[in-house]
Amino acid sequence: MTNKELILSVENLTKVFGGVVAVDNVSFTINKGEIFAVIGPNGAGKTTLFNMITGVLPSSSGNVYFQGNRLTRKKPYQIAQAGVTRTFQNLEVFDNMTVIENVMTGAHITMKTNILTAGLRLPTVVNEEVQTMERALQCLEDVGIAEFAYEMADKLPYGNQRLLEIARAAISKPRLILLDEPMAGLNAEESRQLVDVILKMRADGMTFLFVEHDMETVMSISDRIVVVDNGVKIGEGTPEEIYQNPQVVAAYLGDDDEEEGVAYA
Ligand SMILES: Nc1ncnc2c1ncn2[C@@H]1O[C@H](COP(=O)(O)OP(=O)(O)OP(=O)(O)O)[C@@H](O)[C@H]1O
Ligand SMILES: [Mg+2]
Repeated sequence: MTNKELILSVENLTKVFGGVVAVDNVSFTINKGEIFAVIGPNGAGKTTLFNMITGVLPSSSGNVYFQGNRLTRKKPYQIAQAGVTRTFQNLEVFDNMTVIENVMTGAHITMKTNILTAGLRLPTVVNEEVQTMERALQCLEDVGIAEFAYEMADKLPYGNQRLLEIARAAISKPRLILLDEPMAGLNAEESRQLVDVILKMRADGMTFLFVEHDMETVMSISDRIVVVDNGVKIGEGTPEEIYQNPQVVAAYLGDDDEEEGVAYA
């Protein structure tokens, strides 16, 4: 990529739970428009890293900068307002809402409406709600599930619920989306659909940071990859470089005869 523009900078991020150092002094930077993967065995600290970047957990030490602004110790909604949203490792869909209502919940961080003005049904409020609905429909279209907009979310097949989560992460117009194991539990067709959505959103300017155990996907769509093991960053590079990194191969990828030894979730 030419004209690299730094968007996220993770500097010496560390998380200690009791005696366990779940993330140990991890640093990396992401450029605008990159698809950047974090890989590593189960328990390596990948989700904990995401939780610190998105403000779900306070870091023990270290800093995160997004477009030059320090995110460290900001609340999740403030980080979302700054332009960083995410999906979670476990499905987080509201069963008692329609698909479009689920997506609209992702917009509320940027809406001017509050409980008081919403209750008054002022024209500005109604307008904002209509605009949010239109935007939600567009986001559903972007991920290819607009036809299910008015169905209850729990009626969707699992793969479509995953796509719904991406639509919800996208509605607030973030610059960076974090996806924690987006391919987990998807069949081959659903995975292909999700890959297409990610690539299309990237073509439209989105930057992605994702955790994934599906190596085929990681190696085919990532621009760069960071490898963590036991909380420590043990490698970084392009897919080709990661394949050739002896430390990474020894710790994680294994050789061809030992694939069953790799801890894929
Ligand atoms: N809230 C918590 N309290 C205490 N320990 C935690 C907490 N969250 C994670 N850990 C520990 O931190 C380590 C890293 O966990 P984490 O969930 O970040 O790993 P991961 O790389 O996402 O694993 P997986 O691939 O299974 O999702 C593990 O040892 C885990 O038990
Ligand atoms: Mg995890």
